[in-house]
Amino acid sequence: MSVRRSRFMRVLWGALALYEILNLLFFALLRALPSSLLPGAVKRAGEAAGILAMILPLWLILSFREILPRVRILSRIFFLWYFVLGTFLIGALPGMMLAVLARGGQNADPYVGSIPEGALAGGLLFTGAIFVLSLRSRFLPPRIIKKTLAFEGLDPRLAGTTILHLSDLHVGAWQGESRLRTFADMVRTLSPDILAITGDVVDHREEEGRIFERIFSPLSGKIGTVAVLGNHEYWTLEKEAAEIMRRHGYPLLKNESRLLVTSGGGEIRVVGIDDPAGADYAPDCGPDLDRALGNVRAGEFVLALVHQPTLWEGRLCEAAHLTLSGHTHGGQIGGHPPFPNLASLFFRHSAGLFSSSDSASHGHVLHVSAGLGYYGIPVRVGMVPEMTLLTLLPAERR
Ligand SMILES: [Fe+2]
Repeated sequence: MSVRRSRFMRVLWGALALYEILNLLFFALLRALPSSLLPGAVKRAGEAAGILAMILPLWLILSFREILPRVRILSRIFFLWYFVLGTFLIGALPGMMLAVLARGGQNADPYVGSIPEGALAGGLLFTGAIFVLSLRSRFLPPRIIKKTLAFEGLDPRLAGTTILHLSDLHVGAWQGESRLRTFADMVRTLSPDILAITGDVVDHREEEGRIFERIFSPLSGKIGTVAVLGNHEYWTLEKEAAEIMRRHGYPLLKNESRLLVTSGGGEIRVVGIDDPAGADYAPDCGPDLDRALGNVRAGEFVLALVHQPTLWEGRLCEAAHLTLSGHTHGGQIGGHPPFPNLASLFFRHSAGLFSSSDSASHGHVLHVSAGLGYYGIPVRVGMVPEMTLLTLLPAERR
């Protein structure tokens, strides 16, 4: 097992252990609440739901190992319950502390000073506030992030070239068609030279490919549109993923490259790397750097697309001046680095721009998009949906 995978597994087991601890705290709180506030029948129903929630990870593990069938709704319930429990207990802590303070003060009324009630009030208030905050990501347009990137020795004919980076649309998962049309209108308004999409366009149904075709396939960058597959395309469409997505007008580069030429004659070699999830379905799927980089010529400006940022290392990092990636969603909760987010637990490059400090690949840049869609729960706090407009400049003009 690689170091990266073993770290991922450690974090995953830690997250499951935390989930069970949160459930136990939930039980403790249920028991502590007075029956005047929570009738016995409600308590018993809560305990039964809690027991089911505690054995849910077992089902998920067994279904991942294909011992039990995969039931999508169960994974959604798991993520939603985990999120609600976590936020509730974070809010419960200050609620409890305030209740302790109230009890220790002048107010001797045991009702006002009740610690379990303080926890309940704090938990409900905090969870409600988080849900209200998350409405921003559901109903307001995504954030447009504009960045200029300076590269030493950039062909002057490429100066000012714009690349619009979209990722992880997860069409169909909590994304209505009117919202998707808003995204498409924004792309038209931004009118980039290159439109780049880094995978996870579909979430879990082939129908979502047809929605993409209807809304997004007419869109194009002025000099080209390019894309790669993500793990969700493979999970949904399996070994036919590439063929089906191409049929839906998805401008796919699967371990291959394409030369884009600006109106002024500047050239950009766009390289698309296939997603590691493909390797589970067919021998010709999954990343193949030899094939992908095969046509790259010395002196070309190389733009690489790869769904998972964990592949930005070694040869790819050195070969590509700029690599675009997604997959992490920035954890959906938190901020762009240096602020923490949930994805930073699992990924070294969770969201935003990164430059390699390795002298062999100095000046080579990775951009990880936090994406436009949702995974697990329809909630984003801090890490709102985003699309990023990158402008290339020669280093001396920065
Ligand atoms: Fe993904």
